[in-house]
Amino acid sequence: MRIILAIAGALGLAACSTEPTPAWQMGDPEVGQQVARDLCADCHAIDRTGDSRNSAAPPFRTILATYPPEWLATDLHTGQAIAFRRMPVFHFGEGHEYDLVAYLLSIQEAPSPRPSTGPASQH
Ligand code: HEC
Repeated sequence: MRIILAIAGALGLAACSTEPTPAWQMGDPEVGQQVARDLCADCHAIDRTGDSRNSAAPPFRTILATYPPEWLATDLHTGQAIAFRRMPVFHFGEGHEYDLVAYLLSIQEAPSPRPSTGPASQH
């Protein structure tokens, strides 16, 4: 609670919001993209297209399908190990974990059936 208030205060929102927005929903996707580029792109595909440099690392555009943004924000925030140690643990300051989640939300693929697996693709 104290953290949420601190962040809300930093953004100058504390005074005008009646129901505080959860901290993880208050990230800035543009900052998050920069953070992803700096810290995550060595392994993960961080854009809407392209393959991960580390083939074990899932592309960011698919991550939230299995990892709800709320949990991810919490795990990044607390420094909880993600995905059982094959993934380094990061320690974020200044709410960058929330910026990252905001960015991830902005690039998620729509959960649609893959065209290549449909009955129409015979070749
Ligand atoms: C050194 C390579 C490396 C870097 C750098 C890296 N990751 Fe990963 N990440 C991985 C690998 C490998 C996996 C897959 C681990 C597994 O499946 O056990 C992974 C998995 C993940 C998952 C998915 C977990 C799941 O269970 O679906 C998330 C979320 C994630 N990384 C976030 C990040 C974020 C955010 C950053 C940047 C702050 C980052 N990673 C930087 C290698 C990396």
